[in-house]
Amino acid sequence: MDGSPEATAGSPLVVLDQVNKHYGDLHVLNDINLTVDRGEVVIVIGPSGSGKSTLCRSINRLETIDDGTITIDGKALPDEGAPWRGCAPTWAWCSSPSTCSRTRPSSKTSPLAP
Ligand SMILES: Nc1ncnc2c1ncn2[C@@H]1O[C@H](COP(=O)(O)OP(=O)(O)O)[C@@H](O)[C@H]1O
Ligand SMILES: [Mg+2]
Repeated sequence: MDGSPEATAGSPLVVLDQVNKHYGDLHVLNDINLTVDRGEVVIVIGPSGSGKSTLCRSINRLETIDDGTITIDGKALPDEGAPWRGCAPTWAWCSSPSTCSRTRPSSKTSPLAP
C-alpha cells in the first residue's frame, strides 16, 4: 500500500485491534477493537476516568500501548514503548542528558524517517 488515494479508497482509516493499556495496576484500555472509516465521525462517550482521552492519545501516538495494534491508513503505528530496533537509542549519541528528552525522538532516530 503506497498511501495514495487510489490505494486506500474503501479501506478503513483507523483500526484498533485488541488494544490494551495499563497505568500501573489500572487497566485503562481493555481489548479495544475499533474501526473508523474515511469520513466517519465517531463519538466516544463514557464516564470521567473511563479512558476516552487515553484512547485518543494512543491513536495520536501521545501514549504507548501495551498490547494490540493501531493501524492508520494501512500502516501500523510504531511501538515507541519497545526498545528501538535498527537505530541507536537517544542516549547513545546525546552528550548531555539534561538537554535531551528521550520521549521526543529526533530525526536521527525516528522510525518514521524514510
Ligand atoms: N499519565 C497517567 N498516569 C497514570 N494514570 C493516568 C494517566 N492518564 C490517565 N490516567 C488514569 O487513567 C484513567 C483514564 O483516564 P482518561 O483516559 O483521562 O479518562 P477520561 O478521558 O475518560 O476521563 C483515569 O483513572 C486516570 O486517572
Ligand atoms: Mg478525558
